[in-house]
Amino acid sequence: MQTTTVFNNINRLVQGRGCLSGLPAEVERLGAKRILVITDPGLMQTGIPTRVAKLLSGFEVVIYSDVESDPSVESVDACAQFVKDNGFDLLIGLGGGSPIDTAKCVSILATNGGKTEDYLGIEKVPKPGLPKIFIPTTAGTGSEVTNVAVLSLKALHTKKGIVSRYLVADVAMLDAELTLGLPGHITAATGMDALTHAIEAYVSRFAQPLTDHFALDAITRLGRSLRTAVHFGANIEAREDVLTASLYAGLAFGSAATGMVHGLAMPLGGLYNIPHGIANAVLLPHVMKFNLVAATRRFGDVARALGETTEGLSERAAAERAIAAVISLSEDIGIPKYVDQLGIPRKGIPAIAKDGMTNSRQILPNPRDVTYEGLVGILNEAFSPE
Ligand SMILES: [Fe+2]
Repeated sequence: MQTTTVFNNINRLVQGRGCLSGLPAEVERLGAKRILVITDPGLMQTGIPTRVAKLLSGFEVVIYSDVESDPSVESVDACAQFVKDNGFDLLIGLGGGSPIDTAKCVSILATNGGKTEDYLGIEKVPKPGLPKIFIPTTAGTGSEVTNVAVLSLKALHTKKGIVSRYLVADVAMLDAELTLGLPGHITAATGMDALTHAIEAYVSRFAQPLTDHFALDAITRLGRSLRTAVHFGANIEAREDVLTASLYAGLAFGSAATGMVHGLAMPLGGLYNIPHGIANAVLLPHVMKFNLVAATRRFGDVARALGETTEGLSERAAAERAIAAVISLSEDIGIPKYVDQLGIPRKGIPAIAKDGMTNSRQILPNPRDVTYEGLVGILNEAFSPE
Protein backbone atom coordinates (compact mmCIF):
# COMPACT_ATOMS: atom_id res chain seq x y z
CA MET A 1 0.00 0.00 0.00
CA GLN A 2 1.22 3.52 -0.75
CA THR A 3 2.02 5.78 2.20
CA THR A 4 1.21 9.18 0.65
CA THR A 5 -2.44 9.74 -0.17
CA VAL A 6 -4.21 12.48 -2.12
CA PHE A 7 -7.89 13.39 -1.81
CA ASN A 8 -9.24 15.42 -4.71
CA ASN A 9 -11.64 17.90 -3.20
CA ILE A 10 -14.82 19.24 -4.75
CA ASN A 11 -15.85 22.87 -4.87
CA ARG A 12 -19.51 23.13 -3.91
CA LEU A 13 -22.17 20.50 -3.42
CA VAL A 14 -25.88 21.32 -3.27
CA GLN A 15 -28.02 18.37 -2.26
CA GLY A 16 -31.64 17.68 -1.31
CA ARG A 17 -35.11 17.01 -2.66
CA GLY A 18 -36.23 19.93 -4.80
CA CYS A 19 -32.82 21.67 -4.60
CA LEU A 20 -32.98 22.29 -8.37
CA SER A 21 -35.07 25.39 -7.56
CA GLY A 22 -31.86 26.93 -6.21
CA LEU A 23 -30.19 26.81 -9.62
CA PRO A 24 -30.75 30.51 -10.48
CA ALA A 25 -28.98 31.51 -7.26
CA GLU A 26 -26.02 29.27 -8.16
CA VAL A 27 -25.82 30.81 -11.64
CA GLU A 28 -25.98 34.26 -10.07
CA ARG A 29 -23.12 33.36 -7.70
CA LEU A 30 -20.95 32.47 -10.67
CA GLY A 31 -21.78 35.79 -12.34
CA ALA A 32 -22.95 34.11 -15.56
CA LYS A 33 -25.12 35.76 -18.20
CA ARG A 34 -25.10 33.41 -21.20
CA ILE A 35 -25.58 29.74 -20.39
CA LEU A 36 -25.42 26.55 -22.44
CA VAL A 37 -27.32 23.52 -21.10
CA ILE A 38 -25.61 20.39 -22.45
CA THR A 39 -27.86 17.32 -22.53
CA ASP A 40 -28.99 14.41 -24.71
CA PRO A 41 -32.02 13.54 -26.86
CA GLY A 42 -33.34 10.99 -24.34
CA LEU A 43 -33.48 13.54 -21.53
CA MET A 44 -35.16 16.09 -23.81
CA GLN A 45 -38.17 13.76 -23.90
CA THR A 46 -38.55 13.92 -20.11
CA GLY A 47 -39.03 17.70 -20.22
CA ILE A 48 -36.31 18.24 -17.59
CA PRO A 49 -34.05 20.43 -19.83
CA THR A 50 -37.00 22.67 -20.70
CA ARG A 51 -37.80 22.95 -16.99
CA VAL A 52 -34.21 23.99 -16.32
CA ALA A 53 -34.35 26.59 -19.10
CA LYS A 54 -37.61 28.00 -17.65
CA LEU A 55 -36.05 28.22 -14.19
CA LEU A 56 -33.29 30.31 -15.76
CA SER A 57 -35.61 32.63 -17.64
CA GLY A 58 -33.76 35.65 -16.22
CA PHE A 59 -30.64 34.64 -18.18
CA GLU A 60 -29.82 33.93 -21.82
CA VAL A 61 -30.13 30.14 -22.13
CA VAL A 62 -29.51 27.78 -25.06
CA ILE A 63 -30.05 24.00 -24.93
CA TYR A 64 -27.61 21.73 -26.79
CA SER A 65 -29.15 18.24 -26.95
CA ASP A 66 -26.86 16.38 -29.38
CA VAL A 67 -24.77 14.53 -26.79
CA GLU A 68 -24.12 10.90 -27.76
CA SER A 69 -24.30 8.10 -25.23
CA ASP A 70 -20.71 7.08 -24.41
CA PRO A 71 -19.61 10.23 -26.28
CA SER A 72 -17.00 10.04 -29.02
CA VAL A 73 -14.16 12.57 -29.16
CA GLU A 74 -15.68 13.85 -32.43
CA SER A 75 -19.05 14.53 -30.78
CA VAL A 76 -17.31 16.46 -28.00
CA ASP A 77 -15.30 18.49 -30.52
CA ALA A 78 -18.57 19.35 -32.31
CA CYS A 79 -20.12 20.66 -29.08
CA ALA A 80 -16.92 22.63 -28.33
CA GLN A 81 -17.14 24.22 -31.77
CA PHE A 82 -20.75 25.23 -31.02
CA VAL A 83 -19.55 26.93 -27.81
CA LYS A 84 -16.73 28.73 -29.63
CA ASP A 85 -19.10 29.93 -32.39
CA ASN A 86 -21.77 31.17 -29.98
CA GLY A 87 -19.89 32.35 -26.89
CA PHE A 88 -21.12 31.18 -23.45
CA ASP A 89 -19.85 32.00 -19.99
CA LEU A 90 -21.31 29.00 -18.12
CA LEU A 91 -21.96 25.37 -19.02
CA ILE A 92 -24.56 23.18 -17.33
CA GLY A 93 -24.05 19.42 -17.79
CA LEU A 94 -27.51 17.89 -17.32
CA GLY A 95 -28.20 14.14 -17.49
CA GLY A 96 -26.18 10.96 -16.99
CA GLY A 97 -22.44 10.53 -17.36
CA SER A 98 -22.43 11.31 -21.08
CA PRO A 99 -23.70 14.94 -20.97
CA ILE A 100 -21.65 15.63 -17.84
CA ASP A 101 -18.45 14.24 -19.37
CA THR A 102 -19.14 16.17 -22.59
CA ALA A 103 -19.62 19.40 -20.61
CA LYS A 104 -16.36 18.74 -18.71
CA CYS A 105 -14.35 18.42 -21.92
CA VAL A 106 -16.08 21.29 -23.70
CA SER A 107 -15.29 23.53 -20.74
CA ILE A 108 -11.54 22.98 -21.10
CA LEU A 109 -11.60 23.06 -24.91
CA ALA A 110 -13.32 26.46 -24.85
CA THR A 111 -10.38 28.07 -23.04
CA ASN A 112 -7.42 25.87 -24.03
CA GLY A 113 -8.23 25.36 -27.73
CA GLY A 114 -7.19 22.23 -29.61
CA LYS A 115 -9.09 18.96 -29.83
CA THR A 116 -10.34 16.52 -27.20
CA GLU A 117 -7.67 13.95 -28.12
CA ASP A 118 -4.89 16.43 -27.25
CA TYR A 119 -5.78 16.14 -23.55
CA LEU A 120 -6.26 12.35 -23.14
CA GLY A 121 -4.15 11.15 -20.20
CA ILE A 122 -3.32 12.58 -16.81
CA GLU A 123 -3.09 16.35 -16.10
CA LYS A 124 -2.39 17.46 -19.64
CA VAL A 125 -4.73 20.47 -19.54
CA PRO A 126 -2.74 23.73 -19.11
CA LYS A 127 -5.41 26.12 -17.79
CA PRO A 128 -8.88 26.26 -16.22
CA GLY A 129 -11.98 25.89 -18.37
CA LEU A 130 -15.32 27.71 -18.45
CA PRO A 131 -17.30 27.59 -15.19
CA LYS A 132 -19.58 24.55 -15.00
CA ILE A 133 -22.52 23.22 -13.00
CA PHE A 134 -23.34 19.51 -13.15
CA ILE A 135 -26.80 18.16 -12.44
CA PRO A 136 -27.08 14.35 -12.61
CA THR A 137 -30.42 12.78 -13.54
CA THR A 138 -29.16 9.21 -13.10
CA ALA A 139 -27.61 7.73 -9.97
CA GLY A 140 -24.44 5.93 -10.92
CA THR A 141 -21.55 7.58 -12.68
CA GLY A 142 -20.56 9.96 -9.89
CA SER A 143 -19.11 12.06 -12.71
CA GLU A 144 -20.53 15.21 -11.11
CA VAL A 145 -17.82 15.05 -8.42
CA THR A 146 -14.83 13.55 -10.23
CA ASN A 147 -11.92 14.95 -12.22
CA VAL A 148 -12.29 12.36 -14.98
CA ALA A 149 -14.10 12.24 -18.35
CA VAL A 150 -14.30 9.02 -20.39
CA LEU A 151 -14.49 9.24 -24.18
CA SER A 152 -15.01 6.73 -27.00
CA LEU A 153 -12.27 6.52 -29.63
CA LYS A 154 -14.41 4.99 -32.35
CA ALA A 155 -11.62 4.50 -34.93
CA LEU A 156 -9.59 2.53 -32.38
CA HIS A 157 -12.64 0.72 -30.91
CA THR A 158 -11.68 1.69 -27.40
CA LYS A 159 -12.37 4.20 -24.61
CA LYS A 160 -9.86 6.46 -22.88
CA GLY A 161 -10.02 9.15 -20.24
CA ILE A 162 -8.97 12.71 -19.53
CA VAL A 163 -7.94 13.30 -15.92
CA SER A 164 -7.54 16.95 -14.91
CA ARG A 165 -8.18 19.17 -11.91
CA TYR A 166 -9.89 21.53 -14.39
CA LEU A 167 -12.67 19.00 -15.05
CA VAL A 168 -14.01 19.42 -11.51
CA ALA A 169 -17.41 21.12 -11.25
CA ASP A 170 -17.80 24.59 -9.78
CA VAL A 171 -21.13 23.35 -8.42
CA ALA A 172 -22.73 19.90 -8.34
CA MET A 173 -26.47 19.78 -7.64
CA LEU A 174 -28.07 16.49 -6.58
CA ASP A 175 -31.86 16.44 -6.52
CA ALA A 176 -33.29 12.92 -6.19
CA GLU A 177 -36.64 14.11 -7.61
CA LEU A 178 -34.92 14.27 -11.03
CA THR A 179 -34.27 10.49 -10.88
CA LEU A 180 -37.87 9.47 -10.09
CA GLY A 181 -38.76 8.81 -13.74
CA LEU A 182 -35.69 6.72 -14.54
CA PRO A 183 -36.71 3.32 -16.00
CA GLY A 184 -35.89 0.23 -13.92
CA HIS A 185 -33.27 -1.20 -16.27
CA ILE A 186 -31.32 2.09 -16.32
CA THR A 187 -31.65 2.42 -12.54
CA ALA A 188 -30.22 -1.11 -12.26
CA ALA A 189 -27.28 -0.57 -14.64
CA THR A 190 -26.31 2.84 -13.27
CA GLY A 191 -26.73 1.65 -9.67
CA MET A 192 -24.38 -1.26 -10.34
CA ASP A 193 -21.88 1.20 -11.83
CA ALA A 194 -21.98 3.06 -8.50
CA LEU A 195 -21.56 -0.21 -6.58
CA THR A 196 -18.57 -1.04 -8.78
CA HIS A 197 -17.02 2.37 -8.06
CA ALA A 198 -17.45 1.87 -4.32
CA ILE A 199 -16.14 -1.72 -4.20
CA GLU A 200 -13.20 -1.01 -6.51
CA ALA A 201 -12.29 2.10 -4.49
CA TYR A 202 -12.51 0.17 -1.21
CA VAL A 203 -10.14 -2.60 -2.32
CA SER A 204 -7.88 -0.20 -4.31
CA ARG A 205 -4.18 0.10 -3.57
CA PHE A 206 -4.82 3.87 -3.42
CA ALA A 207 -7.55 3.59 -0.76
CA GLN A 208 -7.28 5.93 2.25
CA PRO A 209 -9.46 6.53 5.33
CA LEU A 210 -11.54 9.24 3.62
CA THR A 211 -12.26 7.14 0.53
CA ASP A 212 -12.93 4.08 2.73
CA HIS A 213 -15.56 6.03 4.63
CA PHE A 214 -17.40 7.10 1.48
CA ALA A 215 -16.99 3.72 -0.23
CA LEU A 216 -18.43 1.65 2.64
CA ASP A 217 -21.31 4.09 3.15
CA ALA A 218 -22.12 3.89 -0.58
CA ILE A 219 -22.05 0.07 -0.50
CA THR A 220 -24.39 0.03 2.53
CA ARG A 221 -26.88 2.37 0.85
CA LEU A 222 -26.90 0.41 -2.41
CA GLY A 223 -27.27 -2.91 -0.58
CA ARG A 224 -30.36 -1.65 1.25
CA SER A 225 -32.01 0.55 -1.42
CA LEU A 226 -31.07 -0.37 -5.00
CA ARG A 227 -33.62 -3.20 -5.28
CA THR A 228 -36.40 -0.84 -4.14
CA ALA A 229 -35.28 1.97 -6.48
CA VAL A 230 -35.38 -0.49 -9.43
CA HIS A 231 -38.72 -2.12 -8.61
CA PHE A 232 -40.56 0.80 -6.96
CA GLY A 233 -39.23 3.74 -8.92
CA ALA A 234 -41.49 6.35 -7.27
CA ASN A 235 -40.03 5.62 -3.83
CA ILE A 236 -38.21 8.88 -3.13
CA GLU A 237 -36.40 7.54 -0.02
CA ALA A 238 -34.82 4.73 -2.08
CA ARG A 239 -34.01 7.14 -4.93
CA GLU A 240 -32.35 9.52 -2.51
CA ASP A 241 -30.33 6.74 -0.88
CA VAL A 242 -29.11 5.51 -4.28
CA LEU A 243 -28.27 9.04 -5.49
CA THR A 244 -26.30 9.69 -2.30
CA ALA A 245 -24.56 6.34 -2.77
CA SER A 246 -23.60 7.33 -6.30
CA LEU A 247 -22.22 10.63 -5.00
CA TYR A 248 -20.23 8.96 -2.20
CA ALA A 249 -18.92 6.29 -4.58
CA GLY A 250 -17.81 9.13 -6.87
CA LEU A 251 -15.99 10.80 -3.97
CA ALA A 252 -14.31 7.47 -3.18
CA PHE A 253 -13.15 6.50 -6.65
CA GLY A 254 -12.31 10.11 -7.55
CA SER A 255 -9.27 9.69 -5.29
CA ALA A 256 -8.85 5.91 -4.78
CA ALA A 257 -9.45 5.13 -8.50
CA THR A 258 -11.14 2.06 -9.97
CA GLY A 259 -9.67 -1.33 -10.81
CA MET A 260 -9.99 -4.00 -13.44
CA VAL A 261 -13.80 -4.14 -13.56
CA HIS A 262 -13.51 -0.74 -15.21
CA GLY A 263 -10.30 -1.78 -16.97
CA LEU A 264 -12.22 -4.55 -18.77
CA ALA A 265 -15.53 -2.66 -19.11
CA MET A 266 -13.76 -0.11 -21.33
CA PRO A 267 -12.93 -2.63 -24.08
CA LEU A 268 -16.43 -4.14 -23.78
CA GLY A 269 -17.71 -0.63 -24.53
CA GLY A 270 -15.14 0.19 -27.19
CA LEU A 271 -15.21 -3.16 -29.04
CA TYR A 272 -18.84 -4.20 -28.55
CA ASN A 273 -20.73 -1.01 -27.60
CA ILE A 274 -21.86 -2.48 -24.29
CA PRO A 275 -23.18 0.35 -22.06
CA HIS A 276 -20.78 1.18 -19.23
CA GLY A 277 -23.04 0.24 -16.31
CA ILE A 278 -24.05 -3.13 -17.78
CA ALA A 279 -20.45 -4.00 -18.67
CA ASN A 280 -19.35 -3.26 -15.09
CA ALA A 281 -22.31 -5.06 -13.55
CA VAL A 282 -21.67 -8.30 -15.45
CA LEU A 283 -17.92 -8.24 -14.84
CA LEU A 284 -18.05 -7.23 -11.15
CA PRO A 285 -18.40 -10.65 -9.43
CA HIS A 286 -15.88 -12.26 -11.80
CA VAL A 287 -13.23 -9.62 -11.11
CA MET A 288 -14.01 -9.76 -7.37
CA LYS A 289 -13.30 -13.50 -7.49
CA PHE A 290 -9.93 -12.82 -9.14
CA ASN A 291 -9.04 -10.10 -6.60
CA LEU A 292 -10.30 -11.90 -3.51
CA VAL A 293 -6.96 -13.50 -2.60
CA ALA A 294 -5.21 -10.11 -2.63
CA ALA A 295 -7.71 -8.21 -0.44
CA THR A 296 -9.49 -10.91 1.56
CA ARG A 297 -10.13 -8.91 4.72
CA ARG A 298 -11.45 -5.92 2.77
CA PHE A 299 -13.90 -8.10 0.84
CA GLY A 300 -15.18 -9.28 4.23
CA ASP A 301 -15.96 -5.62 5.04
CA VAL A 302 -17.79 -5.34 1.69
CA ALA A 303 -19.89 -8.40 2.60
CA ARG A 304 -20.90 -6.86 5.93
CA ALA A 305 -21.71 -3.51 4.28
CA LEU A 306 -24.00 -5.41 1.91
CA GLY A 307 -25.86 -6.81 4.93
CA GLU A 308 -24.26 -10.26 5.06
CA THR A 309 -23.67 -11.94 8.41
CA THR A 310 -20.09 -13.15 8.67
CA GLU A 311 -19.93 -14.08 12.35
CA GLY A 312 -18.13 -17.34 12.89
CA LEU A 313 -16.87 -17.46 9.32
CA SER A 314 -13.22 -17.61 8.34
CA GLU A 315 -11.77 -14.48 6.72
CA ARG A 316 -11.85 -16.25 3.35
CA ALA A 317 -15.45 -17.44 3.74
CA ALA A 318 -16.53 -13.94 4.83
CA ALA A 319 -14.91 -12.46 1.71
CA GLU A 320 -16.76 -14.94 -0.46
CA ARG A 321 -20.06 -13.70 1.03
CA ALA A 322 -19.35 -10.37 -0.72
CA ILE A 323 -19.35 -12.11 -4.11
CA ALA A 324 -22.52 -14.04 -3.25
CA ALA A 325 -24.22 -10.80 -2.14
CA VAL A 326 -23.32 -9.02 -5.39
CA ILE A 327 -24.60 -11.96 -7.47
CA SER A 328 -27.87 -12.00 -5.53
CA LEU A 329 -28.34 -8.23 -5.95
CA SER A 330 -27.62 -8.50 -9.69
CA GLU A 331 -30.14 -11.33 -10.07
CA ASP A 332 -32.81 -9.41 -8.19
CA ILE A 333 -32.48 -6.38 -10.48
CA GLY A 334 -32.22 -8.24 -13.80
CA ILE A 335 -28.50 -7.96 -14.59
CA PRO A 336 -27.24 -10.76 -16.89
CA LYS A 337 -24.77 -13.15 -15.27
CA TYR A 338 -22.40 -13.76 -18.18
CA VAL A 339 -20.88 -11.61 -20.92
CA ASP A 340 -22.06 -13.92 -23.74
CA GLN A 341 -25.61 -12.86 -22.75
CA LEU A 342 -24.54 -9.42 -24.01
CA GLY A 343 -23.73 -10.89 -27.45
CA ILE A 344 -19.96 -11.05 -26.95
CA PRO A 345 -18.28 -14.05 -28.63
CA ARG A 346 -15.68 -16.18 -26.81
CA LYS A 347 -13.19 -15.55 -29.60
CA GLY A 348 -13.18 -11.90 -28.51
CA ILE A 349 -11.35 -12.75 -25.26
CA PRO A 350 -7.75 -12.09 -26.48
CA ALA A 351 -8.61 -8.65 -27.90
CA ILE A 352 -10.53 -7.63 -24.76
CA ALA A 353 -7.65 -8.77 -22.51
CA LYS A 354 -5.07 -7.05 -24.73
CA ASP A 355 -6.98 -3.75 -24.54
CA GLY A 356 -7.42 -4.25 -20.78
CA MET A 357 -3.62 -4.42 -20.42
CA THR A 358 -3.36 -0.86 -21.85
CA ASN A 359 -5.49 0.61 -19.04
CA SER A 360 -2.76 1.47 -16.56
CA ARG A 361 -5.09 3.83 -14.65
CA GLN A 362 -7.02 0.71 -13.59
CA ILE A 363 -4.13 -1.77 -13.47
CA LEU A 364 -2.08 0.18 -10.91
CA PRO A 365 -4.82 0.52 -8.23
CA ASN A 366 -6.14 -3.03 -8.71
CA PRO A 367 -5.49 -5.02 -5.52
CA ARG A 368 -4.08 -8.08 -7.31
CA ASP A 369 -1.19 -7.83 -9.78
CA VAL A 370 -2.64 -7.80 -13.30
CA THR A 371 -1.27 -9.91 -16.15
CA TYR A 372 -2.62 -10.71 -19.60
CA GLU A 373 -3.11 -14.34 -18.50
CA GLY A 374 -4.97 -13.15 -15.41
CA LEU A 375 -7.38 -11.10 -17.54
CA VAL A 376 -7.95 -14.04 -19.91
CA GLY A 377 -8.73 -16.14 -16.82
CA ILE A 378 -11.32 -13.57 -15.58
CA LEU A 379 -12.93 -13.42 -19.02
CA ASN A 380 -13.09 -17.21 -19.34
CA GLU A 381 -15.00 -17.30 -16.05
CA ALA A 382 -17.25 -14.49 -17.27
CA PHE A 383 -18.66 -16.68 -20.07
CA SER A 384 -21.44 -19.23 -19.44
CA PRO A 385 -20.01 -22.65 -18.60
CA GLU A 386 -19.74 -24.71 -21.82
FE1 LIG B 1 -17.99 3.66 -13.86
